[in-house]
Amino acid sequence: MSEHNVDQYRITDEPYYMPVTNEVELYEAAYDARMPIMLKGPTGCGKSRFVEHMAYKLGKPLITVACNEDMTASDLVGRFLLDANGTRWQDGPLTIAARIGAICYLDEVVEARQDTTVVIHPLTDHRRVLPLEKKGELVEAHPDFQIVISYNPGYQNLMKDLKQSTKQRFGALDFDYPDAEVEATIVAHETGVDKETADKLVQIAQRARNLKGHGLDEGISTRLLVYAGQLIAKGVEPNAACSMTLVRPITDDPDMRDTLDAAVNTFF
Ligand SMILES: Nc1ncnc2c1ncn2[C@@H]1O[C@H](COP(=O)(O)OP(=O)(O)O)[C@@H](O)[C@H]1O
Ligand SMILES: [Mg+2]
Repeated sequence: MSEHNVDQYRITDEPYYMPVTNEVELYEAAYDARMPIMLKGPTGCGKSRFVEHMAYKLGKPLITVACNEDMTASDLVGRFLLDANGTRWQDGPLTIAARIGAICYLDEVVEARQDTTVVIHPLTDHRRVLPLEKKGELVEAHPDFQIVISYNPGYQNLMKDLKQSTKQRFGALDFDYPDAEVEATIVAHETGVDKETADKLVQIAQRARNLKGHGLDEGISTRLLVYAGQLIAKGVEPNAACSMTLVRPITDDPDMRDTLDAAVNTFF
């Protein structure tokens, strides 16, 4: 019924994901109920990778939308375009997902304005519909459609938060940086550095994470540890690799940089 090519949204190679607790089982049960899901946690802790892994595991196409404050409802739902033959409707990513039965992942959804976020409401209750007001069409969501959003509670402020009427449409899974052992396994797997090096990187991150709220807005993420491992695996000297990936990105404060560099030096 739809002109969209479902295969382009399928994930063909299994994304590596190391479970932290029972999130895989919980997500499977939630998907079975087609429950909208919110993934909460700091940046770079595995939320996107988890969704990619679950879409692969469930054999469903995945459409990811990186949300930002300039995004309008039309960017999600679709718009009329002018071309040589006149006007033509173009479905937005949310509409495509609803039509083809994809998992629609709205990444960093708080970045979007609230009037944008409300377009997902009719898809997240028993109606499972998406009104295309400009087109005059009511899209009934495909039975496989599910909506997943990610949300970083750390960035929460009064201007940028989801309304309760949005929040209370979702089941939520908390994500955080994995335990040291799991995180080191991930870093070693993702980069090819040995376990001993991965352990050191994780210990550096754990020190920095203790500084969150004491001069650091956010700790060193798993993503940054993967970056550090990638450089080390390419032969970059570990102190230089850590400075570039674990210290420089997260703070401009000279004292904080010294503190973090010193932590790096105790391990490498
Ligand atoms: N549990 C995990 N299993 C496998 N890789 C992980 C896991 N957690 C984090 N990672 C690694 O960290 C990187 C960043 O994770 P990502 O999913 O992009 O973070 P988020 O979406 O939370 O910002 C991933 O590309 C992956 O290399
Ligand atoms: Mg992400």
